[in-house]
Amino acid sequence: MDVQGIVAGKVALVTGGGSGIGRATAELLAREGATVVVADRNVAAARATKEDLDELGAAALAVEADVSLPDQVEAMVAAAVAEFGRLDIAVNNAGTPGGYRDVTDLSEGAWDTTLGINLSGTFHCLKHEIAAMRANGGGAIVNMSSATVLKMAAPQPDYAASKSGIIALTRSTALAYGPDGIRVNAVLPGPTDTPMLSAGFNARSIDLTEMGKRYPLRRIATADDIANLVVWLASDRAGIITGTAIPADGGYSLT
Ligand SMILES: NC(=O)c1ccc[n+]([C@@H]2O[C@H](COP(=O)([O-])OP(=O)(O)OC[C@H]3O[C@@H](n4cnc5c(N)ncnc54)[C@H](O)[C@@H]3O)[C@@H](O)[C@H]2O)c1
Repeated sequence: MDVQGIVAGKVALVTGGGSGIGRATAELLAREGATVVVADRNVAAARATKEDLDELGAAALAVEADVSLPDQVEAMVAAAVAEFGRLDIAVNNAGTPGGYRDVTDLSEGAWDTTLGINLSGTFHCLKHEIAAMRANGGGAIVNMSSATVLKMAAPQPDYAASKSGIIALTRSTALAYGPDGIRVNAVLPGPTDTPMLSAGFNARSIDLTEMGKRYPLRRIATADDIANLVVWLASDRAGIITGTAIPADGGYSLT
């Protein structure tokens, strides 16, 4: 393991670490020297990511946790601290795209589900992560928002509202816990080639490569593109940065 990595010696937690952006982030954290707790409601996916980290020689733990359930989130953070003694970095990445329906067609139940995972889930994570980080003198948190908050391109009122709320939570917690040495930032990915995006777009017969050609950098993001920003923000190299919401979208939101 590269002890010179930008997060060497840190203990990191990634929710939704079994797939897509979360999996790429867990792998990059490990390559950059962190010990990684991979949490996902799909525990088989979390274990598969952990096996990748094992092969890299990183210390890792897979945890089953649904972020919409406060008790499971509390147990997830407790498991991380019990196994590795502290928590330095948290990436609150688990999310759902919702059902792609405008408000008149969106059921109350579907609204509650999307907000329960994306927004309340982030709240539950922040609550327990911040408590653990205060106990060890600080930390860095990255919340996964979306460039959807900058550009509405699909009928996703539940998703867009949840991802806007995540920015408000980010700013509020950055203000409150900066004095405790805790930085909190949000990342706003544009369209990113992951199972979540391809599932939604294949269903609507949208070609991702063709779609990417419409944006300034002529491509959509990879999960690694997003992980690069997340891990840098989580590292001490971003030590003066807090309360921000940074797009990583190849110029998508400019179009
Ligand atoms: N892919 C994109 O284009 C894109 C764009 C902007 C923002 N995002 C955001 O990035 C994050 C990751 O998305 P992705 O594209 O990698 O998706 P993905 O579907 O590939 O991975 C999401 C992971 O989160 C897990 N998950 C879902 N609900 C959960 C819950 N309640 N508790 C715990 N784990 C849960 C899933 O099991 C899965 O492993 C999401 O928050 C998403 O909204 C994605």
